[in-house]
Amino acid sequence: MMKPPFKNPRASHNFQGRSCSIVGVGSYVPAKILTNHDLEKMVDTSDEWITTRTGIKERRIAAENEWTSTMAARAAERALKMAKVPAADVDLIITATITPDMPFPATACLVQEEIGARRAAAFDMEAACSGFIYGLEIGQQFIMSRTYNTVLVIGAEKLSSIVDWSDRNTCVLFGDGAGAAVLQNRENSHGLLTTFIGADGEKGDLLYMPAGGSRCPATRQSVDGRLHYLRMDGKQSFKNAVQAMESAARQALQRCELDISRIKCVIPHQANRRIIDAVAERLGAAPEQLFVNLEKYGNTSAASVAIALDEAVASGRLNRGDLILLVGFGAGLTWGAAVIEW
Ligand code: UT7
Repeated sequence: MMKPPFKNPRASHNFQGRSCSIVGVGSYVPAKILTNHDLEKMVDTSDEWITTRTGIKERRIAAENEWTSTMAARAAERALKMAKVPAADVDLIITATITPDMPFPATACLVQEEIGARRAAAFDMEAACSGFIYGLEIGQQFIMSRTYNTVLVIGAEKLSSIVDWSDRNTCVLFGDGAGAAVLQNRENSHGLLTTFIGADGEKGDLLYMPAGGSRCPATRQSVDGRLHYLRMDGKQSFKNAVQAMESAARQALQRCELDISRIKCVIPHQANRRIIDAVAERLGAAPEQLFVNLEKYGNTSAASVAIALDEAVASGRLNRGDLILLVGFGAGLTWGAAVIEW
């Protein structure tokens, strides 16, 4: 049998032919579009500034009766449909989000109910914009350990609920949406070749939401002080994003003994076009290798890589056996990368 021209790091472990494949992807974005021109009427900004500094042209905003759980459920249903897997067969739902419907119960439990995945265990995990890649790492562990056969990993956000719409530094950047992937064992195939995740809690203050947790519960003062909105040091986040994404991508490629030129499609976290281009340049990735959709959606945090993966698949540019590199960065700080054989 011909050896594949890359190393499958999982093969060196005692997984006895087991592998974790993404057998379905799906995404959902709300219908309402908020353009840069709309934002010009809300804060002191311009389409020109937003476009040149970020690459974003518009973003989606959830309706009042749309929440993280409902967007997550729509994305999950589409991923299950593509996978031809009934919701009743799902063993586990992992929802990555920083905007859960409520502090508890977990949004994953609300999704379980909404899609009718009666048998599934369900929990949320939070790694901000790296959430979907963290979710893939966790999900594949359950598959490889033979604990579960079918895991649904979702990245979903209603960031419009925590954006300060009077702060031009942040409100132009974010949007709402959800993406999902169905993971299953596929004997003797490749699928998720490697995942790499990391964190640096020392830099947690670069991007955070001060109130609403146990440290600063909601009070009249916290609301008056606008502490229930996200805060970001843009410049430092930018710098750290470029470094962390380059490093995470390199680690993942190295584990598979792959050169970047072998990757058909690089799907980065969609925060800023300049971040994506800087990471691509450092990695030596050509523009045609990149998948970028942030001009339509802005930064959707945990949903960003999941939506982009779904759209890359739907675009028809990926063929069976192509190699995909996912790479992300977010609050925490957190970062992650994954190499997938499609
Ligand atoms: O999801 C992962 C975490 N987040 C990120 O990765 C975001 C990372 N950071 C960024 O994308 C960029 O730093 C920003 C897009 C947020 C900002 O771009 P920048 O090139 O770093 O701009 P800046 O912060 O240096 O601001 C330049 C100027 C400032 O004015 P002064 O102080 O030079 O007079 C800002 O007040 O641009 C001003 N500015 C704006 N002007 C018009 C900031 N936001 C806006 C705006 N419209 N929306």
